[in-house]
Amino acid sequence: MAKLTRGLPNISMEKLGSLNIAIRRNTPVASRCLWGLSSFQLDHVRSRTYATAVAAKALKDLNDRFRNELNAIKGAGLFKNERVITSPQGVHVNVEGYGTEMLNFCANNYLGLSNHPEIVRAGKSGLDQYGAGLSSVRFICGTQSLHKDLEKKLSEFHGREDTILYASCFDANAGLFEVICSSPDDAIISDELNHASIIDGIRLTKTKKFRYAHRDMKDLENKLKEAGNSRTKIIVTDGVFSMDGNVAPLPDILELAKKYGALTFIDECHATGFFGATGRGTEEYFGLPPGSVDILNSTLGKALGGAAGGYTTASKEICEMLRQRSRPYLFSNSLPPPVVSSAAKVVDMLMESPELVSKVHSGTNHFREGMKKLGFKVIGDPSHPICPVMLGDAKLTSKFASKMQDKGIYVVGFSYPVVPKEKARIRVQISAAHSKEDINRALNAFESIGKELGVI
Ligand SMILES: Cc1ncc(COP(=O)(O)O)c(C=O)c1O
Repeated sequence: MAKLTRGLPNISMEKLGSLNIAIRRNTPVASRCLWGLSSFQLDHVRSRTYATAVAAKALKDLNDRFRNELNAIKGAGLFKNERVITSPQGVHVNVEGYGTEMLNFCANNYLGLSNHPEIVRAGKSGLDQYGAGLSSVRFICGTQSLHKDLEKKLSEFHGREDTILYASCFDANAGLFEVICSSPDDAIISDELNHASIIDGIRLTKTKKFRYAHRDMKDLENKLKEAGNSRTKIIVTDGVFSMDGNVAPLPDILELAKKYGALTFIDECHATGFFGATGRGTEEYFGLPPGSVDILNSTLGKALGGAAGGYTTASKEICEMLRQRSRPYLFSNSLPPPVVSSAAKVVDMLMESPELVSKVHSGTNHFREGMKKLGFKVIGDPSHPICPVMLGDAKLTSKFASKMQDKGIYVVGFSYPVVPKEKARIRVQISAAHSKEDINRALNAFESIGKELGVI
């Protein structure tokens, strides 16, 4: 509008609005409004009006196209409805549309700390001491002592030289590979079922890309041979795969890396804080010393408080180079202080006592054993709290999940394209905060609905 009024000093914004509409509709009001305008002024208004109309048509076309595509997604039963939680995240949540409190079995809140009083207190103290945010990227004026402290704590926790924080692990994955493999002479060899953020990060590179069949060490070896004498070769894998709850065969991967002179990378989002005897993740689960894998990315948005944030932990040279070159780090705001201080408190708690970790393990055993006795097929690593209950058919899965919700058990069904066709499942996630009674309630619901729907 401001541009439109240039050259039309005597026309009020209000009058200009009606003039615009009038010209577009070509009504008699137009002539009334136009009365008194010079031909230059009229041309000016007409050309601006035409440009506005073209822009409006472009937006209308896009909205029309999206409306059709969204209807097709709904028609295929693939539309993701977001349920609205009206309470803090936790094992017991209130969900809009459900009168009673629900028992939550679908959060990544593995340690049950998302709303733990000590973590909330730590977040508040970060807010009080350091403010709401930095209004800056790290290298301009966005680094506070608490960012450096958390990076140090995470390095100690993982037994690495240095750590660099990102706004999310998605960003950490998106910003890593371009830096590590910056030349067409480099090669990335990646598990076909790696997380979307790893796939996107690899896409951004101009390097040679190889995909090996999921956890297939023969295929990985073939791809390493194909990669030949590349300058930098890196094997890339999730530590734990979130849809199946299964674990990358890390000792074999490390063996092949040694044989072919490759680096190793692991995404530990579904392992950090709770997998392995003290929550150090996949290396610890396999009894490997910390630092066996060259580069480790993980999140603060799951077990470590659940707020947000991600990081890369590795050698000091790798982290230093990421600070210089990694685009999501260089061009995005610093993590807010309350998020940093709540995550730091979780790391302190983990270092002080592994009790929470053993609660995840005992809850997982209880659920998996109970489901086995009932006759359900639950896949994944027996000690991992991701427990995919395999139902196969997508419609059956969605019906099963909604009946569970009606009984106050918050679980979600996953079907194609998130998982392969005919492999639909309900993914149950166990948290340290689930009591035995909570888990028994879920088992009872699985039993009665399983019988009702003829699954068991
Ligand atoms: C394996 C894996 N990597 C990366 C991410 C992204 O983590 P963040 O939520 O911190 O961006 C996720 C989150 O779902 C994940 O499951």
